[in-house]
Amino acid sequence: MKKLVLASLSATLLAVSASAAMADAAAKYAACGGCHGQKGEMKALGTGPVIAGQSKEDIVKKLKGYKDGSYGGAQKAVMLGQVASLSDEDIEALADMISKF
Ligand code: HEC
Repeated sequence: MKKLVLASLSATLLAVSASAAMADAAAKYAACGGCHGQKGEMKALGTGPVIAGQSKEDIVKKLKGYKDGSYGGAQKAVMLGQVASLSDEDIEALADMISKF
């Protein structure tokens, strides 16, 4: 019985921290929406690729690439400024959210 209570308690805690991560990603995406659109549907600054519809894996790879300089086009400096302060966890959470737009 004790075990059952503990198990359901930790399941609840997990659910709470997962939704906190979602809220955090949404708050972080607020900074991105100005260029990419609230649903990732805009061409950033009129030229960048549309990010809506991309897979989580692609977005993670690209964001980490902007951070370490291994990815990007003519305007990659713009994105370096955006991702420089994001942690790997932030990038995962953002990519997960964007892939579901
Ligand atoms: C000031 C405008 C601006 C903001 C703010 C911005 N971006 Fe971008 N983003 C761009 C531009 C421009 C590009 C294309 C850069 C290049 O030439 O590689 C881009 C590219 C990207 C790409 C790669 C698209 C591809 O397929 O190559 C992703 C993913 C992305 N941005 C996500 C984000 C996220 C997540 C945020 C918020 C943390 C963000 N952007 C904030 C302008 C912006």
